[in-house]
Amino acid sequence: MATATTTITPVPAFSDDLETTAPAGEDLYGFSRWSADLVRVLPNGNVGLCNPAVPDQIPTDLLAVVKSLQLRGIRSPILLRVADFLKYRIDRLNGAFTEAIDELEYRGTYQGVFPIKVNQQAQVVDRIIDYGRVHNFGLEVGSKAELLIALSHELGPKAAIICNGVKDESFLRLALMSQRLGFNTFIVLESPREVDLVLNIADEVNIRPRLGVRIKLTNTVSGNWARSSGDRSTFGMTVAQVMEVVEAMGERDYLDCLVLQHSHLGSQIGNILEIRQAVQEACRFYCELSAVGANLSYLDIGGGLGVDYTGEHAATANSVNYSLEEYAVNVVDTVKIVMDEHSIEHPTIVTESGRACVAHSSMLLFNIIDVTEFTSSTPVVAEADDHPYLASILEIEEYLSLERVQECWNDLAYYRGEIRQLFGVGRLSLKQAAKAERAHLYLLSLINDLLARNPASDVELPEGLDLTADIYHGNFSLFQSLPDIWAIDQLHPIAPIHRLNETPTRHAVISDMTCDSDGTIGRFVLADGIASTLPVHKVEPDEDYYLGVFFIGAYQETLGDLHNMFGDTNVVTIGLDGRGGFEVLHEQEGDTVAEVMSYVEYSPRGMLDRFKAIVERGVASGRLSPTDRRHMIASFKQSINGYTYFEGS
Ligand SMILES: Cc1ncc(COP(=O)(O)O)c(C=O)c1O
Repeated sequence: MATATTTITPVPAFSDDLETTAPAGEDLYGFSRWSADLVRVLPNGNVGLCNPAVPDQIPTDLLAVVKSLQLRGIRSPILLRVADFLKYRIDRLNGAFTEAIDELEYRGTYQGVFPIKVNQQAQVVDRIIDYGRVHNFGLEVGSKAELLIALSHELGPKAAIICNGVKDESFLRLALMSQRLGFNTFIVLESPREVDLVLNIADEVNIRPRLGVRIKLTNTVSGNWARSSGDRSTFGMTVAQVMEVVEAMGERDYLDCLVLQHSHLGSQIGNILEIRQAVQEACRFYCELSAVGANLSYLDIGGGLGVDYTGEHAATANSVNYSLEEYAVNVVDTVKIVMDEHSIEHPTIVTESGRACVAHSSMLLFNIIDVTEFTSSTPVVAEADDHPYLASILEIEEYLSLERVQECWNDLAYYRGEIRQLFGVGRLSLKQAAKAERAHLYLLSLINDLLARNPASDVELPEGLDLTADIYHGNFSLFQSLPDIWAIDQLHPIAPIHRLNETPTRHAVISDMTCDSDGTIGRFVLADGIASTLPVHKVEPDEDYYLGVFFIGAYQETLGDLHNMFGDTNVVTIGLDGRGGFEVLHEQEGDTVAEVMSYVEYSPRGMLDRFKAIVERGVASGRLSPTDRRHMIASFKQSINGYTYFEGS
């Protein structure tokens, strides 16, 4: 039988009696590689939350936060936002550009904007505006609703509102009129079609608009967002279309209003060279547009600044081969070189970095509600009338050794396949098939134990062995809270938030609460690379075992859906007090069942009435007693007013 290998990190597995040797957490899960100094393992084995802006502060114990929230009645799953992390990232982004500008003697300034689409939650946007005020940090909006959000805030005096996306007349009118209120609003034209529409309203309301053009770069990027770049990208104008716009604006005497050039390559760009090349191309456009009379002074390079989710520091889908500081230096340097070559004044550099601002500040915390193990320590006894294939499975134990492990695995897979086939065609009894399954599980467990006891051996795990990993059933919905894991194979660091000074003795895949086979996480960031199972601790009876999924502040809340009617989780924003404690800054209760019902057109009141009528018929027919009725109605009411997630007993 042909064999292949799978690269599972050789963690001790399937043997509860393994010695618990060196503390494993930090090394195993790679905290120091991906944590960006925001989380670390504390001496007690729990995850600590740290504020890198004030490194001397005492970290806050994350498990203590969860327990304390529980005492307040805030149950798992919890989306935890740490305000300090958000502030730290905004300060760092702005600080990186300020330093790069100083260092490179760039004569323009930097003005970032946060794209609301990346996380529209009011608590998040409010804080971004608050923390960004000193930096004149603004907002990018891509729809009328997002424009309304922007206009309902007091932004910093020079902070920009960049209006992208398709705009109708009322959007444009509002955006234009907002200039009268002192907002620094820029309307970015996405197509030549928008020119007359904007200029007609500008004429009507007598406002000289601040306009931008979105250009389509020819440079492409690799990764998940490759389609946002290059000729086939959906947004932005070709050179020919841009010229059309310039001519149309010139004819109507509005060319002086064309002050901003915008481009966006896509999100999570892993390779700094691709960013540099794109910025260079954007600068070339900028110079040419200036040469034909545009009054440009803002160069908006869009989003794309990535997050190192895996800590690989490489140009892979979930990592980046540059730091935030390198990004700023590379952007500023590239702009300066091209502008100087063409003797053009250094523009104000605008970035629309969403992911890099918010990803780090949120994490999902959930408990494990059940564990399915695929192991057996019960030997299966051979009997004279066993089918020969079953006897062959049982014989494998006799020649199982480290040297012959691959052979044993191959034989086991072969005989099991044959037995299944025989059963399928009716040539093997249910009893024999069941015995073969038990024998298979027992042998698999022996193989796993052997490999776990010899983690340093160079035996590669036979393909398929990870299929025997435990399933840890988590109290969350992948589709609601972590949609990109499902949709684009996004990797987020995942680790237990406690017991990190104990060597994990199991390995598992994580399954969510939905009854969808897609609701499973089967790729994990570990110190040694990406693994198909997560090392986990054996869940003790009555223990609440918690896992954390880190860096989920970007896009996840926005894209989540109601699959299987699991609603928004409880959301808590905390501030770290620097002395190991925390303060609850805001709490948003998760959806009740009644709330998610109403999102899908049910009336909870009407449902209760209908249920009452059905139960009443049961009483009338004698199938239920009046007391049964009372209990059933009480349960119904309790459920409909409860959390959509597992609430325990
Ligand atoms: C126009 C525009 N700007 C900015 C962003 C944010 O990108 P990122 O989160 O990579 O910074 C996006 C999202 O893809 C976008 O479409």
